[in-house]
Amino acid sequence: MSEDIKGINLVVIGGGPGGYAAAFLAADLGMNVTLVDPEKNPGGVCLYRGCIPSKALLHVAKLIDESKEAHKRGVTFKEPEVDLDKLRAYKDGVVEKLTNGTGQLLKQRKINHIRGHAKFVNATTLEIDTIDRKKETLSFQFAIIATGSRPIHIPSLIPDSSRIINSTGALKLEDIPKSMLIMGGGVIGLEMGSVYSTLGSAVSVVEMLPGLIPGADRDLVRILQKSIEPKYKKIMLNTKVVAMKEVKGAIKVSFETKDGETFDEKYDKVLVTIGRTPNSGSLGLKNTKVAVDEKGFIQTDIQRRTHEPNIFAIGDVVGNPMLAHKASHEGHVAVETIAGHKAAFEPNAIPAVGYTDPELAWAGLTETEAKEQGQKVEVFRFPWAASGRAITMDRIDGMTKLIVDPESERILGMGLVGVGAGELISEGVLAIEMATLASDLKMSIHPHPTISETIMESAEMFFGTATHVYRPKRK
Ligand code: FAD
Ligand code: NAI
Repeated sequence: MSEDIKGINLVVIGGGPGGYAAAFLAADLGMNVTLVDPEKNPGGVCLYRGCIPSKALLHVAKLIDESKEAHKRGVTFKEPEVDLDKLRAYKDGVVEKLTNGTGQLLKQRKINHIRGHAKFVNATTLEIDTIDRKKETLSFQFAIIATGSRPIHIPSLIPDSSRIINSTGALKLEDIPKSMLIMGGGVIGLEMGSVYSTLGSAVSVVEMLPGLIPGADRDLVRILQKSIEPKYKKIMLNTKVVAMKEVKGAIKVSFETKDGETFDEKYDKVLVTIGRTPNSGSLGLKNTKVAVDEKGFIQTDIQRRTHEPNIFAIGDVVGNPMLAHKASHEGHVAVETIAGHKAAFEPNAIPAVGYTDPELAWAGLTETEAKEQGQKVEVFRFPWAASGRAITMDRIDGMTKLIVDPESERILGMGLVGVGAGELISEGVLAIEMATLASDLKMSIHPHPTISETIMESAEMFFGTATHVYRPKRK
C-alpha cells in the first residue's frame, strides 16, 4: 500500500450504494475514511426504501401469481391468504439482514461513521448536525458527495393527505386499498403496481407519455404491457393528472387526455411515482465552487470531480440513470481517481431492469437511440415462443433482442423481456463491454434448455442460421 494513499483523509457524505461502495473501496486502498449518513448502518434509499424492500415484496407477489396460475398445469392451490403483518415483517427482516451486513463491513474496515447530516462550510470543512442534535465540525482533504435523491413532489398539484403516498409510503404496506391510482408509468410505478394488484387492489395507472417505461424500446414494452394489462383495472396513456382533491373517504382525481378530454375518478389511495429529484439543496454548496444544473444535479467531469478539485459527486445526485449499480461504479471511479489511479466513468452499457412480471431489461444502445442518432444497426428479435425452456415454464411472453453493428458485427445493445430477464442481461453487458462480435456469441456454447440460448440464437440470426426460428439472411 502506498504511503501517499495512506495519508489521504476522505469524507463520504451519504451511505447509499454509491457512498458505501466508495467508502469501502477507499478504506481497502488504505485511506482514512469517514462516512456521514443518518442511518444506523449504510444502505441509503436502495437498501432501506428502494431496491431491496421492493424486491422482497415483488418476490412474494410472484409467488402468489404463480400459485394462482398453477391450476393451468394441473396443480390447484387454495386461494392464498395474506398476513400483512408477517409479510411486512419478512420485508423488514430482509432489509435488516442486509443493513446489518453493511454495518459489519463498515466496522471491519474501521471506517469512522458519523450519524447525521453534513453541509459544507467551505471546500475543506463540513458542519454536521448529528442525529443526537449535536453539531460537529470535520476537516477533510477530499470529499465525495453521495446524497442521493428523493421523490418529486408537486405541492400545487398534490395535496397533503394520508391517502396520497410516494414509494416510501407504498413500501410501508400499511394496508391494501380497494382501489389505487398510480401516477407515473415508470419503473417504480409498475413495480409497486405489481405488488398492490397481486395483493388485491384494483390498480389503475396514468402516464402522460404515449407509452409505459420511457427509455426502453417499444417492442419490449408492448410485450410487458400485454402481459400485465389483465392485472390492472385501467392503463391510461397520453393522459395527465390535472387536479387532486381529498373528498369523503377518497381522492378525487381529475384527468386530461392529450386530445383535451377531461374526466374525474375516485380512488382509495394514490401512489405518486413521477420521478426523483437530487438531494443537493441543503448541502451548503454555495460555500464551495461545486455547481449544479437547473434541476439541481451536481455537475461533474468524467472522473466525477466537481468544479471544486478536491470534491467529487456520485450516484443519483449527479443525474440519470438513477440506479444503484451506476452509483456504486461511479463511487469506485471517484475513489480510484483520488488514489491517483487512472480511472474514468465511461461505460458502454449501464443495465436497467424493471422487476415486473415479466421482467424488462436492457443495456447499451437501444433501437430507439440508434434511430434518433441516425446510426445504422441491424436488429434481431428471438421470440421466446421458440425457446424450449420458456415453453417448459409456460412463459413464452418474452423476447430477446440484439442490436448489432452490421459492418463490424459488434454487439452494441441487448434488450430482454421475460421471466428472469434481469439475470440474463449481464451477458449482454459483458458482450457490449468486451466488444464481442455476433460470431463470438454464436460460437459460445450455451446450456440447454435455458433462456440464455435465446441470446446465442439471436446472434445466429445475424447470419440467418438460427436453429429454432427460420429467418434466412436478407440479401
Ligand atoms: P441513496 O441511496 O439515495 O443514498 C443517499 C444517502 O445519503 C441516504 O442515506 C441519505 O439519508 C443520505 N444523505 C442525504 N443528505 C445527506 C447529508 N446532507 N448528509 C449525510 N447524509 C445525507 N435502483 C436499482 O439499481 N435497482 C432497483 O431495483 C431499484 N429499485 C428502486 C426502488 C424504489 C422504490 C426506489 C425509490 C429506488 C430504486 N432504485 C433502484 C434506485 C436506487 O435506490 C438509487 O439509484 C440508489 O439508491 C442511489 O444511490 P445513491 O448512493 O446515489 O444514494
Ligand atoms: P421515472 O422517471 O422512471 O418514471 C416516471 C414516469 O412518470 C414517467 O414515465 C413520466 O412520464 C411520468 N409522469 C411524470 N409526471 C407525470 C404526470 N403529471 N402525470 C402522469 N405521468 C407523469 O420515475 P420513477 O418511476 O419515479 O423512478 C425514479 C427512478 O428510480 C427511475 O428513473 C429509476 O432510475 C429508479 N428506479 C429503478 C428501479 C429499477 O432499477 N428496478 C426501480 C425503481 C426505481
